[in-house]
Amino acid sequence: MNRLRVALVLLAACLPLVGQNRRPTRPQVSRPDGETWQVIRKNCTRCHGIDDYAFFALDNAGWNLLLETKHQASGGYKLADNDRKLLLDWMVQKFGPTTKPFPRTYVPQEITTFFSDPEAHRLLDRACTKCHGLDRVENSRFPEERWRVVAIDMRERGAVLADEELERLVEWLGRVWGTNQDK
Ligand code: HEC
Ligand code: HEC
Repeated sequence: MNRLRVALVLLAACLPLVGQNRRPTRPQVSRPDGETWQVIRKNCTRCHGIDDYAFFALDNAGWNLLLETKHQASGGYKLADNDRKLLLDWMVQKFGPTTKPFPRTYVPQEITTFFSDPEAHRLLDRACTKCHGLDRVENSRFPEERWRVVAIDMRERGAVLADEELERLVEWLGRVWGTNQDK
């Protein structure tokens, strides 16, 4: 076989795997409180959800420009001054220039070894205690997929985690701080 054929055969062998369970992880944004949510509910959620906001990290002017540019074709983005201020203040606080955008293409890698409790605790101590206590972890119960979103979000904020560590931590968190399956 020549090199091209070898490459094609290898590619064909990999594609089914890529297609199966390897979809990029999507961000999950929680609703703001009160008035800000009312602004979003009235003006924004008619056409699409709020999760995609996490793909950006912009200052006030950047957000304003992005919203104008993205909505030219769909009739524009028009808000009363006060509503615009509420919206942009929240966006800059959540998705501002000091944060990193959620990656568009994080695909979970397969892991074959799993954390013991002491291994997981060591990683939590090292990677997760710089900004807040571990009570944030212990007070949360999430399914594994949601833990993955949290862990990616934390990494974007500055937690130091290699991809494999992230996946092993996510698997452990889902196991130990997961949600009860049979409710
Ligand atoms: C009339 C329908 C409509 C409304 C209302 C609307 N959007 Fe959009 N929005 C769209 C469309 C369509 C796109 C995709 C445009 C593109 O990709 O060029 C989009 C794109 C976006 C994006 C970029 C998403 C990405 O992944 O690139 C953001 C952020 C966004 N909108 C936020 C908002 C906010 C905040 C509001 C309320 C102020 C809002 N949208 C209201 C239709 C709407
Ligand atoms: C660079 C700072 C930083 C590091 C490091 C960090 N976090 Fe966080 N974490 C935050 C901030 C800020 C929030 C609050 C986010 C919000 O309210 O939107 C948060 C919130 C959380 C929450 C609550 C999320 C929710 O949706 O309820 C959990 C759980 C969490 N962190 C777990 C972790 C874990 C696990 C690690 C280590 C892998 C970690 N954090 C490392 C800054 C950090």
